[in-house]
Amino acid sequence: MRKFLCALMAVMMLGVLTGCGGGDKKAAPAKAETKKELIVGTEPGFAPFEFQDEKTKDYAGFDMDLIRAIAKQAGFAKCTINNMGFDALIPALGTKNIDVIASGMTISEERAKKVTFTKGYYTSGLVVLVNKDNNAIKGIEDLKNKRIGAQIGTTGAMQATKVPGAQVKNFNVNSDAALELKNKGIDAIILDLPVAQWFLKQGGSEYAKIVGATLDAEEYGFAVSKDNKDLAAKLDKALAELQKNGEYDKLYKKWFGEAPKK
Ligand code: ARG
Repeated sequence: MRKFLCALMAVMMLGVLTGCGGGDKKAAPAKAETKKELIVGTEPGFAPFEFQDEKTKDYAGFDMDLIRAIAKQAGFAKCTINNMGFDALIPALGTKNIDVIASGMTISEERAKKVTFTKGYYTSGLVVLVNKDNNAIKGIEDLKNKRIGAQIGTTGAMQATKVPGAQVKNFNVNSDAALELKNKGIDAIILDLPVAQWFLKQGGSEYAKIVGATLDAEEYGFAVSKDNKDLAAKLDKALAELQKNGEYDKLYKKWFGEAPKK
C-alpha cells in the first residue's frame, strides 16, 4: 500500500511538473509516458504478422496482437493502427505521423542509423520462392542473371541486389510479386520464410515452392524515432513482462502453432 501511495504521488508530481512547463508558451510535445494513444504504422500484406481480415478489415496477425498487448501493458489507453507502404514507414516515424513501426521489420545496422529498435521479438530469415515447375533454380546460388522480385525497401530486395547480374523488380506489396511470379514475369521472389510458408499454405503451393536453404537469421523488432528512446524502453519493458507472464508465448502459439524456441 505504501509503495502504491508513493507511486501515486510520484505520478501526481509528474503531472504538476509537466503542467507548468517553465514559462515557455509553446506546449511541450506530449511525452511518451503521458500520451494515451499509441499510433502504429504497418504494411499489412505480410501474413501471419499483419494482414487485414477480408470481411471486417480489422488488422490481424502476430505483430498486431503483440503490439496491442504491449500498448496495453505499457499503459496506453488506445492503440491505433495505420496502413502504409513498407518504404513509407521509416519516413513516417521521422515526421511523427506514427509512434512505432510494427511490420515484421528486421533489425539491421543500416536501419538502426535512422530509427531506434526495441529488443527483437521474432527470429526469421529469407528464402527463395520459385514456380513449382522450375527445376533449374535450387537456391540463391542459381539466381545469377535471373529476374528477381521483392517487396520494395525490404531485406529481401536488398539481398536481391547482391546477386550478380540479376534484374531486380520491386513491388509495393508481396501479393503483386506473387502474381508476377505466377505469370512468369519474374523467376523468383526473395522474402521472409514464415510469410512464404503461410502463403504456400493459403493456396500458393498450387504454383510456387520454396527452394534452398534459409539465408541468414534475421530478428524482427519494433522501431521508434531516434529521439524517442523513452518509448523504446517502455515497449521493451512491456515486451519483457509479456514474455514473463506467458502472454507472448500464447500469441506465438496462436500464430505459429508451437511455443517459441528458447
Ligand atoms: N523482414 C523484412 C524487412 O524488414 C520484410 C518486412 C516486410 N513487412 C511487411 N509488413 N510487408 O525488410
